[in-house]
Amino acid sequence: MSTAATAIAGMTATGPHGTVRTAEHARIMTFLDARGEGRTSLVELTGDPGYGKTRLLTAVAGEARRRGVDVLRARCTETRTGESFHPFIEAFTSWRPSGTTLLAPATAFIRALAAAADMLDDTSTSRCRLFAELRSLYGDCLAAAPGGLLLLFDDFHFADRASVDLLEVLARWPLVEALPVVVAHRQRQVPAWMHVTIQAGVELGAVEQIRLAALTLQQSAELLGLPGRAPGLADLHERGAGNPLYLTALAEQEAGGGDDGRADGFGHAPSAGPSDHWARTTLGVRLLAETTPLGATQRLVARAAAVLGDTFTVDAVAAVAQLDRAEACRALRELRARDLVRATPGGELAFRHPLVGRCLYGQTDPCWQVGAHRRALEYLRTGPAAPTLPARHAERSGPRGPAGVGVGLTAREREVARLAAQGLRTRDIAGRLRVSPRTVDTHLAHIYGKLGVSSRVELVRLLSVAP
Ligand SMILES: Nc1ncnc2c1ncn2[C@@H]1O[C@H](COP(=O)(O)OP(=O)(O)OP(=O)(O)O)[C@@H](O)[C@H]1O
Ligand SMILES: [Mg+2]
Repeated sequence: MSTAATAIAGMTATGPHGTVRTAEHARIMTFLDARGEGRTSLVELTGDPGYGKTRLLTAVAGEARRRGVDVLRARCTETRTGESFHPFIEAFTSWRPSGTTLLAPATAFIRALAAAADMLDDTSTSRCRLFAELRSLYGDCLAAAPGGLLLLFDDFHFADRASVDLLEVLARWPLVEALPVVVAHRQRQVPAWMHVTIQAGVELGAVEQIRLAALTLQQSAELLGLPGRAPGLADLHERGAGNPLYLTALAEQEAGGGDDGRADGFGHAPSAGPSDHWARTTLGVRLLAETTPLGATQRLVARAAAVLGDTFTVDAVAAVAQLDRAEACRALRELRARDLVRATPGGELAFRHPLVGRCLYGQTDPCWQVGAHRRALEYLRTGPAAPTLPARHAERSGPRGPAGVGVGLTAREREVARLAAQGLRTRDIAGRLRVSPRTVDTHLAHIYGKLGVSSRVELVRLLSVAP
């Protein structure tokens, strides 16, 4: 384990964990305190996946309950997007302050919601009258909660249209004592119609927006329970992109002494442990759950992209997935809508974090991987790819020579291969890596064997760098 990893292993075990979103927590509590003062009644909490929205809602719920507020919480899900009022019904169904029985106003409200859901498509029913009645029943619920009610809706990007319409009514025409509602969602996945509605609320002053940003270095230190100048912290912070989800996963990984995900910029190195390592972690299970709704073509395209690495293009993905360009394009558009893939400033595409790609890679069938790497190698060798890219695919694209059947290079061997491919002599490589020339020669012998080449010229040619 590196010094940094040792330091992190020692310190994360005792760190405080989880106090980094204090400013946003305070803002939501202030909003809760201001209810009934004619202030906004709706907070929109946004942030990238893993930024800590759900965790913050949990902290807010705990604090509100300690203050005597009844907290009703619901999570919107993709499979229920078509069910009208599903977050409201779920939240109020959980409201049982006196034990097992629902309060009478909650029962009346839930019944009215269910009935309204059936009537929404009926053109002869006045929507205005329906929503006015729901608003009034909602008021009855408020009156039954002397300590106040707080509604927390998570993953609101999956909310149904009727729920958003009802929230709009409640935000625009608040009751005497406004019911505070916090909706948390991933901004990139919010449908356009929802975005427009929320934006209109913001402009009217009825919606307050709180955006979670990437953690600062200091916040990352706090999250991990490390001193601000801990060795390795800045590197971890950068690799985790200031995202609590990735940061905690990478810190745990380092503390466990495992692969740090840096091996070749994407961590595909065979020496970096089993390629399905990340897919089997808690993080992997969580990230891969997002791919469950994908169709067969989208899944194929996601896996082809994972084979390609950190960044990829539509054409490269199409070549690896053996699809025509239009089909690959359609699937990638869907992956972008799910925020699994994003456009990079350089005009390429990338997973929203390299760990997403690593988890997907770990899920692919090893036999398919070999063919996919071979196709990637063929595609990239025709273009201006960086030398390390074809090398990685070369390592993984199957049997190459008697001694190197399916075996890849270690991190050190890749480094030696890269320098050799740049034309450096053994002595210069040894100087750069601070090892003896004999060690370099030994590495080269292993590299030749594994990649099935017998000279530097062949190695250079394999790595697509002109000698
Ligand atoms: N303040 C924090 N302190 C400690 N850990 C945190 C904190 N915020 C987030 N985390 C860690 O990051 C993970 C992701 O947080 P959370 O589930 O709240 O993110 P999210 O924004 O709701 O993501 P998603 O959009 O995927 O629902 C948590 O499981 C937790 O381990
Ligand atoms: Mg969440």
